[in-house]
Amino acid sequence: SLPRPCEFSTVDGILLQKESCDIWDRIWNFQAKPDDLIIASYPKAGTTWTQEIVDLIQNEGDVEKSRRAPIALRQPFLEWIRPTTSGIDQVKAMPSPRTMKTHLPVQLLPPSFWEKNCKIIYVARNVKDNLVSYYHFQRMNKSLPDPGSWDEYFEAFLAGKVLWGSWYDHVKGWWRKKDSHPILYLFYEEMIQDRKREIRKVMEFLGKNTKEEILDKIVYNTSFDMMKTNPMTNYTNDKKLNHAISPFMRKGIIGDWKNQFTVAQNKKFNEDYEKKMADTSLSFCMEP
Ligand code: PPS
Repeated sequence: SLPRPCEFSTVDGILLQKESCDIWDRIWNFQAKPDDLIIASYPKAGTTWTQEIVDLIQNEGDVEKSRRAPIALRQPFLEWIRPTTSGIDQVKAMPSPRTMKTHLPVQLLPPSFWEKNCKIIYVARNVKDNLVSYYHFQRMNKSLPDPGSWDEYFEAFLAGKVLWGSWYDHVKGWWRKKDSHPILYLFYEEMIQDRKREIRKVMEFLGKNTKEEILDKIVYNTSFDMMKTNPMTNYTNDKKLNHAISPFMRKGIIGDWKNQFTVAQNKKFNEDYEKKMADTSLSFCMEP
């Protein structure tokens, strides 16, 4: 298995990279600006896809402009610490309007984003595919802890003992928040089913002109195949990722969980899901 030099710790019970916990005060006190845009998600829910859609909208469908840098530089990862820099320092160095990404659960988002009434786009994915994608990502990402076997990871996920905490609390927490704050809540499965419709939603939310020609260009350039071959979206520049183990742009489909869950795991998972999701109106499509 891969060497895993990094360490992890918790903030309010949520497992995060140790370095972010060490400077948590700085992250928590981050000062947002009213025209900041934040793309929030549980890891592996379709963050990069949403990020690229947003960047192309901001650049009026100009593909060359969107290829100016890898996505992680165009839209910094707020709470992530790299050996030479941090997400918050990257954001601070950017001109406005700034767009960034976060995987923080709603209760850990720096309060300044609420105070400044910043627009937020949240993307959620059905839990089974989200879990499978997360497992394969942790296998290939040397910045994250070794996931162990699939069976071990499955149990850790159910217990919420994975990075950025429980999927269930994450999607439900952000869902509740959208009643009192400008949050566009997207679903990965709806993006798969009708990408054009969902991109139009994002354009409207951002107050951008929905010219048909620009919309079509963005639809074309944000397919799975286009993003898989685009070096500015496929994360091949990230030296911590080993795409030979599992590519970042892995499958990009609904229902891959069927290739990973055993029948017994599926039964256990469904029973647990019913309980954890009984107190929400949120519902997800898990079948292609
Ligand atoms: S991360 O590391 O949290 O930012 O990962 P994230 O981008 O949220 O999730 C990666 C998964 O999204 C899939 N993906 C796509 N699916 C469909 N269409 C497009 N354009 C697309 N871009 C990325 C990617 O393949 C990962 O899912 P899996 O199931 O592992 O393939």
